[in-house]
Amino acid sequence: MSGIHDFIQSNLPRIESCLNETVADLNPLVKPVVSHILEAGGKRLRPMLCLLTARALGYEKDDIYPLAAALELIHSATLLHDDVLDQAELRRGKITAHLVFGVNEAVLAGDALLARASEMVTAYESLPLMRSVSRAIYWTAAGEIQEIQQLKNPSLTVDNYLEIVEGKTGYLLQTCCQSGAIVAGASEVLERSARLFGLNLGIAFQLVDDALDYSMSPTSTGKPKGGDLREGKLTLPLIFFLQQLETRKQEELLSKMKNRDLASHEQQAIIQAMEDLDLSQKTRAESERYLQIAREALHNFPNSKERLLLGEVLEYIKDRQD
Ligand code: IPE
Ligand code: IPE
Ligand code: MG
Ligand code: MG
Repeated sequence: MSGIHDFIQSNLPRIESCLNETVADLNPLVKPVVSHILEAGGKRLRPMLCLLTARALGYEKDDIYPLAAALELIHSATLLHDDVLDQAELRRGKITAHLVFGVNEAVLAGDALLARASEMVTAYESLPLMRSVSRAIYWTAAGEIQEIQQLKNPSLTVDNYLEIVEGKTGYLLQTCCQSGAIVAGASEVLERSARLFGLNLGIAFQLVDDALDYSMSPTSTGKPKGGDLREGKLTLPLIFFLQQLETRKQEELLSKMKNRDLASHEQQAIIQAMEDLDLSQKTRAESERYLQIAREALHNFPNSKERLLLGEVLEYIKDRQD
């Protein structure tokens, strides 16, 4: 991963400086909230994908950095909102913003970021770019809405789950890659490949993240182990677990999850049983299908150093342990 590591090292300062500029300009009510989540770290995967795609498709100018930063701001906004919805306690290893500053402040900070990021995108005076970013914001929200609706559905199927994942995670990553292609003035065929690459990478990324939730210690992900179970979230590892339970047990577990009524020892027993059944690994195996579509889309890109790095990102997602 040294290639991608070097790329991040040399591009990160300019992204961070765009992020800091935006924060400096925010209203004092929401500024500390935004600083809290941005300073906690994060992989900056979305801006890096935008930059890498633009460079891979021949764009050399530096005016791309604010766009890359805007995509990270949208991501940060969705995290602020998501942690409220999930009543999450830990994000990027820190206490979540809504617990530190209040729910109103966290929601408004997210709104302010979405608005600021959209404004940053208008500077490129490209309707296709604005359309792609607006759609990503909408589809992310739609995925989160659908996830909440499905919490009440005791028979969530793998297909329902994949639809949610496509929405809440896939579309923003699709737009990260598509927007790089649009700025680079790529052909329709290449723009389509960039979209396919981003969407499928995004789906795989969420599947692996869901697998990690049941397989990692809290310190390495910055999120508590089994958090999805506590949050009542029906992710793929848990769908696999439910599938091998008898109906009565399924109903009992789902009802307890819905009411957030699972005792700590019950949670531990489920996590252990899932570990014994190797369901994280089974979930990772599912992600391979999406990684393969992304790999194939990448083959359409012209040969370049950045195309290789985009391939490295896929391998990083596949092997991700934190
Ligand atoms: C977290 O995204 C939300 C998911 C889509 C799983 P990341 O794992 O990219 O979060 P950061 O930005 O690195 O914290
Ligand atoms: C990830 O949501 C997608 C968004 C933030 C929109 P999750 O709830 O699945 O991810 P984590 O586990 O909180 O990062
Ligand atoms: Mg969450
Ligand atoms: Mg969520």
